Amino acid sequence: MVSYDPDILQTIEDERPKIPVGLLSREEKDRLIERGFVGLYRWYVAKSQEKRNWNPDLSFDWREFRKDHSPEVVRILEGFFAVEQYVPDYVTTLLRVIRKSHGRSHFHIRWGSEEERHAELWHNAVLFSGQRDGDWLRNYMGDLRQNMWQLPWDDPMHMIFYTVFQERATQVNYLNLGVIARGKSDIDTFKNDADPILDQACRTIAADEAAHYNFFLEGARLYMYYYPTKAIEAMSDVIKYFAMPAGNIIPNYDQFAELVHRAAIYGPREHAKDVVAVALKNLGVSGRKALENGIKRTRLVPDEEGNLRETAIFEGIDFGSIQSAVKRIFGRIEAHERESGLWEVDPTPFVPHYA
Ligand SMILES: [Fe+2]
Ligand SMILES: [Fe+2]
Repeated sequence: MVSYDPDILQTIEDERPKIPVGLLSREEKDRLIERGFVGLYRWYVAKSQEKRNWNPDLSFDWREFRKDHSPEVVRILEGFFAVEQYVPDYVTTLLRVIRKSHGRSHFHIRWGSEEERHAELWHNAVLFSGQRDGDWLRNYMGDLRQNMWQLPWDDPMHMIFYTVFQERATQVNYLNLGVIARGKSDIDTFKNDADPILDQACRTIAADEAAHYNFFLEGARLYMYYYPTKAIEAMSDVIKYFAMPAGNIIPNYDQFAELVHRAAIYGPREHAKDVVAVALKNLGVSGRKALENGIKRTRLVPDEEGNLRETAIFEGIDFGSIQSAVKRIFGRIEAHERESGLWEVDPTPFVPHYA
């Protein structure tokens, strides 16, 4: 066994930032994360059925959809349809990675059913715009499905962070198309695209994306709380290499990306300000710099027995807010379990990881 000079150990110890010391074993942390996901998933389904039970055909008066939208708006609808219609790939690829987790895999199937209706909603919008017909859409979809979407990351922790940023980005896209649909765009090209049906579609779908974002955010917080070092590293990787889903497999995607940028729907500015900054704030990180610094100073130090012990810096990361958020998650789960009676037979209480 390697033995370490006590003086060196002392120096390391003195330099080591004062951080909360984790109390729980790896097995216990994994168990709690899993229980958290199952509880959140059960809560989510109840809320989804109660508040967002819409239908892409019948919840909208499609006959009233404008037939004289600008070609640019129709092109944007087409692009949104293209992204959403890869839902079979979004579901199957990640499902294989998370299938052992009850909470994440069952949620993922539910999530997929909500993404599937997004594809149908944009399909209807393109069709009722009167500027493309059913055959055109069938051919287009056939072309799109020639390519298959691949996972950007193949581990559950990176993917939870990817979905946090991706859901937020999608929500921002739809909310900003909603600005055009309300006739509020400052851009001349889109001045004449006011349309109450399109506005309703944007609001409805953005509410789904907000709910998705929220679920993944809560999941990310569970990882941040129980595995802070690994979680902030995964988050940083995801931010560094983030790209919108399917952008690399949709034909002429660059033109679409340029168009949504020009339309003030989504571009580097919206991505930095409305997606990354917002998500970081929600995750208790004060900014990208804080995240990078935290990672740089994260290290493994040997303890007296020569075992490597994890240290993490929470400077720039509001760990207190993460802890409160995780307590809130379990509080929400408890309320749901009390309502249904689950609390009496198999409760999911919060278990603190720090003294
Ligand atoms: Fe979606
Ligand atoms: Fe979504």
